[in-house]
Amino acid sequence: MASYKELPKTAQIRLVSSHEEVYEPCDDSFALVDALLADRTKLLEHRPMLCMEIGCGSGYVITSLALILGQEGSGVNYIATDINPHAVRVTHETLEAHGVSAELIVTDIASGLEKRLAGLVDVMIVNPPYVPTPEDEVGAEGITASWAGGENGRSVIDRILPIADRLLSEKGWLYMVTLTANNPSEICLEMKKKGYASKIVVQRSTEEENLHIIKFWRDFDNEVDEINNQSTFMGSLLSQIPPFSFWRGNNGNDSDKNKC
Ligand SMILES: C[S@@+](CC[C@H](N)C(=O)[O-])C[C@H]1O[C@@H](n2cnc3c(N)ncnc32)[C@H](O)[C@@H]1O
Repeated sequence: MASYKELPKTAQIRLVSSHEEVYEPCDDSFALVDALLADRTKLLEHRPMLCMEIGCGSGYVITSLALILGQEGSGVNYIATDINPHAVRVTHETLEAHGVSAELIVTDIASGLEKRLAGLVDVMIVNPPYVPTPEDEVGAEGITASWAGGENGRSVIDRILPIADRLLSEKGWLYMVTLTANNPSEICLEMKKKGYASKIVVQRSTEEENLHIIKFWRDFDNEVDEINNQSTFMGSLLSQIPPFSFWRGNNGNDSDKNKC
């Protein structure tokens, strides 16, 4: 049995900074870190050079990733963005309290960074605002931006997906939190059209929500042209099957179970 000392380190809640306008680590944040822990060995073997979080909030997740993968001497660089300036300040304090660091930027998703980071991000982590809300709440100031996801909770998610595609490196992995109401199988299909395979790394039901942490990676076994040719067929096929019952491709992943 692994001793306490051997357990991988993640951010400690008592060292996570806070502010009334910043999202506190919650079930979704913990589920995302659990997904990273579940993939820890693969992440270490993956040898990422650049890891990025979009929407860092308190900094709990990016700090945990930096502790899981290491920083000094490991050659891994970290960058995190948030639209909420209070979140970026709180993330800075959380990172510092754990002795790790990241480049922090106040911006809308990755605005202003796309040229610089195109094709360079090896690991991207996102716990987006995913709660279905009226559209006019999306992007509101302060804490509302943490959860307001617009129609089906997809407004921000649907803007992040093409940006993730542009920023991820050829071997890049994306870990994203979704809710059943976001229609995760449709998100997987959108990413499949861009050439990505996907699988659910962690699935968790709480009293309030049913969370899925989905991992995406480029599926070189499945050519995009082939997908385009098949998309009409796939669309009619997918409408006939329940969510989460499809997917192929195993690049860098060991099992077909949980394919999304
Ligand atoms: C659900 S919270 C997650 C916070 C943190 N990553 C965690 O897991 O605890 C979503 C975060 O995304 C940020 N956010 C919302 N819309 C954004 C956007 N367009 N660009 C960047 N960050 C955004 C919010 O300010 C909030 O900090």
